[in-house]
Amino acid sequence: MTLKVEGITCGYGGKEVLHGVTFSSDAKLIAVVGPNAAGKSSLIKCIAGQMHHGGHVSFKGTEIGRQEAVSADMVGYMPQQHMNPVSMTVYEAILLGRLNHIRWSPSQHDRRIVDHAIHELSLDPIADKRINELSGGQMQMVSIAQALVKEPELLLMDEPTNNLDLQKQLEMFEVVRILSEQRGLVAMMILHDLNMASRFADEIVVLSGGEVYAQGKPGEITTQKMLRDVYHVEADVVEDRDGLPHVIAYGSLDEGGRT
Ligand SMILES: Nc1ncnc2c1ncn2[C@@H]1O[C@H](COP(=O)(O)OP(=O)(O)OP(=O)(O)O)[C@@H](O)[C@H]1O
Ligand SMILES: [Mg+2]
Repeated sequence: MTLKVEGITCGYGGKEVLHGVTFSSDAKLIAVVGPNAAGKSSLIKCIAGQMHHGGHVSFKGTEIGRQEAVSADMVGYMPQQHMNPVSMTVYEAILLGRLNHIRWSPSQHDRRIVDHAIHELSLDPIADKRINELSGGQMQMVSIAQALVKEPELLLMDEPTNNLDLQKQLEMFEVVRILSEQRGLVAMMILHDLNMASRFADEIVVLSGGEVYAQGKPGEITTQKMLRDVYHVEADVVEDRDGLPHVIAYGSLDEGGRT
């Protein structure tokens, strides 16, 4: 298996939030879905080596998930919250994404890769703008570019569609899909939109209450039962024109909603 996650446990201040998350996958494009507070961000932080945890993660047979691991360069991580110094320009911030490659100063090659990402993500018009002058969606595209220029083999993205309009969401998925076809990139994305997840992913992992509820192809995962069990919503699942599942949600099954 390309990606193996075995018995991951982690928590905050002594309170465990992941209770032995285990799954493995050979898919190129993996979506992680699940309700708020299910532990999705915590899981991706553990895989990215950003959070102390029990259990093991391996990618292509190499142990990952530890910050000090030699394999850390294989993994690119885009967090749910942005963490950029506000005084930089967009170009500088994206160049920073290549920090693991840069020796004394950025090479022509580094700059070419940054230019390419800027172009692919249509960021040319704002390349000289300061980070603190960006809209939420522009900032999101910059974060995506930062993760891509690292040229990781495994790309972990925490809600990359946040703040993006529909066209930008599709553009982002397309860039990642092309990279997976051309370079063999494996991408794991946390997504809330189940219809987008079905469209993007070869495989979906459903996380609920710090455990894996199910894993499988979009058609196997997106069922009325899963929507009831995991999200507590009443919904129909129909097939779209490509035969992919499409969720139509009608309402919450919990009186007064969940907390
Ligand atoms: N820094 C933190 N300190 C304390 N508790 C935390 C911290 N980060 C997350 N938690 C808790 O851990 C649990 C899982 O949070 P996590 O961020 O992994 O969920 P998530 O599935 O990514 O949710 P969302 O969809 O809202 O982003 C939640 O109960 C949350 O309150
Ligand atoms: Mg999260």
